[in-house]
Amino acid sequence: MAFVTRQFVRAMSSSSAASAAAKKIMVKHVTVIGGGLMGAGIAQVAAATGHTVVLVDQTEDILAKSRKGIEESLRRVAKKKFAENPKAGDEFVDKTLSSISTSTDAASVVHSTDLVVEAIVENLKVKTELFTRLDKFAAEHTIFASNTSSLQITSIANATTRQDRFAGLHFFNPVPLMKLVEVIKTPMTSQKTFESLIDFSRSLGKHPVSCKVVMVPWVDFFLTGDGARVPRACDRLCRASCPPFWFACQESPLSTPEASGGRFGSRQHPGHPLE
Ligand SMILES: NC(=O)c1ccc[n+]([C@@H]2O[C@H](COP(=O)([O-])OP(=O)(O)OC[C@H]3O[C@@H](n4cnc5c(N)ncnc54)[C@H](O)[C@@H]3O)[C@@H](O)[C@H]2O)c1
Repeated sequence: MAFVTRQFVRAMSSSSAASAAAKKIMVKHVTVIGGGLMGAGIAQVAAATGHTVVLVDQTEDILAKSRKGIEESLRRVAKKKFAENPKAGDEFVDKTLSSISTSTDAASVVHSTDLVVEAIVENLKVKTELFTRLDKFAAEHTIFASNTSSLQITSIANATTRQDRFAGLHFFNPVPLMKLVEVIKTPMTSQKTFESLIDFSRSLGKHPVSCKVVMVPWVDFFLTGDGARVPRACDRLCRASCPPFWFACQESPLSTPEASGGRFGSRQHPGHPLE
């Protein structure tokens, strides 16, 4: 009888784990809005890891420059990665570039995307207007993510009707080199969305971190010091001291997703909830 019970419990737990996993979105198609420094890097990394990507910006000229920058960056990667086999390097560059298409009309390309990553100008009004518009055109399952460094994810998410499918996805510059990605969950972000973004970040070869509390005292000091300049100061600090910061984020049970962007517990999650 005990054996039957054990088998039953095991079967139930494995089937519920399987159904939880089944609910996650497997991101295959990504739309990156903004082809500047960060957006181009995100598009490059996503395409190089087997995703199809649409890169969106305001003009064809900007997109042409982005594409050129991506190609140059890919050639540098290929030179190192395929030092012994230049032909394989060329194939890698061509294949990656062929996975990236471009558009100047975000609304017309988001209907079939799994994930929208926004990396446009750091302006709340411009970002919320963009997401309000895209919300009407994107598929039901599509996850929205912002790469903002200093704005509240909740404020941007509130401009949409999909707060449960909205989160922060904060990459570091230069995106192809920096392994850390902060996955920022708002109180409305669903677990499914959060886990889908963790999986997506891992699929890019990145180290996603999720944290709810101030972990590093010096970061807290900067965060509580001075409103608007704080996020920039923290970004600079984190970039300057990446190895110890990464180490801390990856090893500590109190990881910190919102550290470098100035969106620490107290701002994004009042009360510093611990998960
Ligand atoms: N630069 C960094 O080190 C860094 C690091 C982490 C996060 N971020 C964040 O990433 C975002 C982008 O930063 P960046 O440095 O790449 O900026 P950037 O100025 O290099 O690029 C922004 C791009 O967005 C485009 N754009 C602006 N409005 C648009 C719109 N409505 N639709 C489509 N495209 C639009 C611009 O034409 C430009 O090409 C910001 O939110 C920033 O805070 C930046």
